[in-house]
Amino acid sequence: MGKSNFCSLISFNKTTGQTSRLVPTVCDYLVWYAKDIGQLKYRPILLRKEFGGIGSVEYTNVELPDGTIRRIEDDEIENPSRLPQGARVFATGDITADGWSEGGSADIRLPNKMTLKCGPNLHWKVSSKGILRLFEKHRLLPREGHRIYKRYYDDFPYIPLSNVWTDVRGEPGKSYVVQTSSTVVSRCLLMTTDPGDLVFDPTCGSGTTAYCAERSARRWITCDSSRVAVNVARKRLLSAVYDHYATRNGTVASGIKLESATRVTMSSLAYDREPEKVDLVDQPVIDKSAVRVTGPIEVMSLGRYSIEDWKGYVVRESGVGEAAKLENYIEVICRLYRKDAAIQGATGLVHAVAENEKHKIAISVGPLSGRVTAKQINDAVQDALASGILEVHVLGWAFEANVGEVKSQLEKRGKVKVELIMIRPDTLAEGLKATQPEMLFSPLALPDIEVAVDKNGKEKHLRVILNGVALFDRKRRTTEYKAADSGYVSAWYLDEDYDGDCFVDCQMFFDFKKTPNIKAALKAEVDPEEYTLQLTSQRFPVRGYNRIAVKVVDVYGNESTVVRDIT
Ligand SMILES: C[S@@+](CC[C@H](N)C(=O)[O-])C[C@H]1O[C@@H](n2cnc3c(N)ncnc32)[C@H](O)[C@@H]1O
Repeated sequence: MGKSNFCSLISFNKTTGQTSRLVPTVCDYLVWYAKDIGQLKYRPILLRKEFGGIGSVEYTNVELPDGTIRRIEDDEIENPSRLPQGARVFATGDITADGWSEGGSADIRLPNKMTLKCGPNLHWKVSSKGILRLFEKHRLLPREGHRIYKRYYDDFPYIPLSNVWTDVRGEPGKSYVVQTSSTVVSRCLLMTTDPGDLVFDPTCGSGTTAYCAERSARRWITCDSSRVAVNVARKRLLSAVYDHYATRNGTVASGIKLESATRVTMSSLAYDREPEKVDLVDQPVIDKSAVRVTGPIEVMSLGRYSIEDWKGYVVRESGVGEAAKLENYIEVICRLYRKDAAIQGATGLVHAVAENEKHKIAISVGPLSGRVTAKQINDAVQDALASGILEVHVLGWAFEANVGEVKSQLEKRGKVKVELIMIRPDTLAEGLKATQPEMLFSPLALPDIEVAVDKNGKEKHLRVILNGVALFDRKRRTTEYKAADSGYVSAWYLDEDYDGDCFVDCQMFFDFKKTPNIKAALKAEVDPEEYTLQLTSQRFPVRGYNRIAVKVVDVYGNESTVVRDIT
């Protein structure tokens, strides 16, 4: 990077101007740096010139069919239909360039007896023969000077996209609050990559980069620290339908066929060459006989939030710096949960103790950027039991998939009661102001599933039925079960043989909400049933781990996972 690799600062319109006492802010900026500007790919996007608008300012002359040349009138610019029939609008161009050269700067005598003089420190842009050809082709104005080349408006009615994009708007129908305009992202991809190239966006959000890359036949990788974003992006990609582009010889690697424009230039005329063909990189040739969907994708997450798990969990060391911050975090969360929480000084997994009417409750807080693990729950319970406390509340931002199982095993063993409590994701973002605890914490609720067993001799097959999903009602601040067919389930996934660590999507079910418009595109009938959310899985055999996992993503992008042993 570094300033020598600066490429451009692009400003683009956003939909709403931020209200301010002063000048409204109506644009965002795209700061473009290359890793190595010497190796940068740049494919200009060409916009059609608009007569009287972009790219046409210099076209101030008009040539009539009888050869008369005059300035273009203002009302002809405003309304080009006022131009006389057969009139050609043109700009003038210089036929010389800087630098004297022995063979390229000599006087040229034209057939009309005029002599063109190059002048000191200049040379002709094309050879003297070329200049004569331009004269024969009526491309030179019959006057002295160097700005005598006639560049007609229609020689190339395009202009490269500049760094001011006033023709874009914020994304309509956003599925993510900070969703970027797909026109902006597409332009970045088209200007700097070719089909088949690999694009990386470390801040996936709703997956605009992946969506645009998929649409333009680029490969992509993206990531996000938020699961909500990953779920929104996954759904967006899996329910997208794209135009099918014609390829040069049947494979994407051979390139996408692009619409092209011809460019007549001074040198193509001077050397009698065919006008150059210029690709319009943002205009692929669409093959209407097919549509495309997103190709196979893999969604991966750190199976164990590796770093946090490795560090252990939230065990305090009193001290300064990081340790003091950690202590403060635990205190704040515990106090938000129970005002009366007595913070425990000792290291261990019981971070605070609160009093109920009848008994004590041990509180254990999960890591700030990781999941509550089965080990944390186990250890917190052991620590609590050692102090004679029989109720343990484990608070976390996220939980390992098998925590439901761990809780019931601990409770089955006797005496102890374990509550798993979700901390609302924006709790810290709100500056930890004193809010009602029931607004910030809700019991961890797992998806409600049923496993139907179908035994045929030795063979055991299963089907999983999704009955419901637990949803946090933001208005009422409570967690409620909603029936699986109530429209709150966005997608659910089944791991038919869960190894306890890595969730593998064996079966996936989506609620597309809107049926993709395949009928119009392919003139084919698709049963709407194909797009409704299936609540019963396909039949599958029991395998090695004797355990299944079901992950449900609700319409807000929150996911919860339930694990079930098959006995
Ligand atoms: C402005 S949004 C991106 C929007 C996206 N271009 C779209 O069209 O939806 C930024 C995203 O970056 C994610 N993010 C922020 N910090 C991150 C980090 N350190 N690593 C990965 N993702 C991060 C946020 O969760 C958020 O989803």
